[in-house]
Amino acid sequence: MMKCRVCETDCKMFLDLGWQPIANNFIARDQFPSEPFYHLQVFFCPSCFTVQLGECPEGRGVFNENYPFFTGTSQGMIKHFVQFSELIKEKYLPANGTIMEIGSNDGTFLEHFKNWEHMGFDPSESVTRVARSKGISVYPKPFETFPAKDSKRWHGATDVFISANTFAHIPDRHGVLRNIKIMLAQGGVWINEEPYLRSIIDKLAYDQIYNEHIFYTSIASMRNALNMHHLEIIDFEILPTHGGSIRYFIGHKRAEDSNGKIDQAVEHEGLNSFDVFQHFGQAVQRCATEFKKNLLALKRPVVGYGAAAKSTTVLNYCDIGPDIVSKIYDTTPEKQGKFSPGKHIPVVSYSQFAEDDTPDVVLFVWNHGREIYDKERYRTRNWLLPVGGAA
Ligand code: TYD
Ligand code: ZN
Repeated sequence: MMKCRVCETDCKMFLDLGWQPIANNFIARDQFPSEPFYHLQVFFCPSCFTVQLGECPEGRGVFNENYPFFTGTSQGMIKHFVQFSELIKEKYLPANGTIMEIGSNDGTFLEHFKNWEHMGFDPSESVTRVARSKGISVYPKPFETFPAKDSKRWHGATDVFISANTFAHIPDRHGVLRNIKIMLAQGGVWINEEPYLRSIIDKLAYDQIYNEHIFYTSIASMRNALNMHHLEIIDFEILPTHGGSIRYFIGHKRAEDSNGKIDQAVEHEGLNSFDVFQHFGQAVQRCATEFKKNLLALKRPVVGYGAAAKSTTVLNYCDIGPDIVSKIYDTTPEKQGKFSPGKHIPVVSYSQFAEDDTPDVVLFVWNHGREIYDKERYRTRNWLLPVGGAA
């Protein structure tokens, strides 16, 4: 039985994505024999409504020296973070305030706050090295292991916490929430954004599901977890990033009984009953079958665009190897010359894409569609989407 990581209730499985490799583990040929696989299953907790993976590789096995994801590689994400930092300076961070980021990656975000007291937390050495070279202070360990309770200096000292696409990665939710409760200033705010489960379901974007993402957030489940630490959602907004994200504004729990906007939102999102998830699980199966059928029907080699972590889920679940998708073009030097996890499709340098006249291109990074269609002159290719359709 799978116990909920938040409330320890027995969970119910609604989606089985089979044996999957580690999504960002792009490897060389000599590593094929020792490649680890794990069973990717997704569960719903009927008590606190948390949606989460079953057993999965965690911690140092994933966010290590070789972790190849650098925030600073997408123009769209860089722009997104510039706008976000303006908002924070305007509305939330006093001139003499303190800001902290959980999962500060290569410092793309904190770079805008060098003139404030700041600290980034990130356990992955490859990215913290880059952040430090930009002059950003980093605590190179997981935030949830920071001894906040014993560091009096930090009690109630943080005006703004931010985290983008990291809270979902951390199995020890209570560790994170406990530290936030201690460190957050009175009247301070934790702004947390991550892919929104409602969007994943509506867009059938099951490729967002992979080992790094242990949790899939809903307003209903977030409210319950926060409540256990006397924190609450003050407000939220829906964003277009990663195909549909939610940005929560969280603070210390106030005296008033309830927040009408949040109560209504929980009602409206409808992610607190198992049948919604069962239905989604079935729709994913149909979507995968259809996608593979379409690729095979083309009867000619296809290439991929963007060796994103999320391509790993689709390729392995649909059992698509180099005989169907011959190569994947990608801009990240660390991935080029390597092979995709599990299915071992060669990843090649994006610089060669323009010379490749293969008409059919699978857009694995569909979430950056607009940016890419502009760049690649949309009409010159037959773009195929790996996920999506009616749920
Ligand atoms: P992204 O969708 O940002 O992330 P994730 O890995 O979390 O699913 O995809 C990042 C990968 O896509 C990265 O390897 C770089 C690659 N990429 C391109 O090759 N070209 C592009 O135009 C974009 C936006 C990304
Ligand atoms: Zn639970």
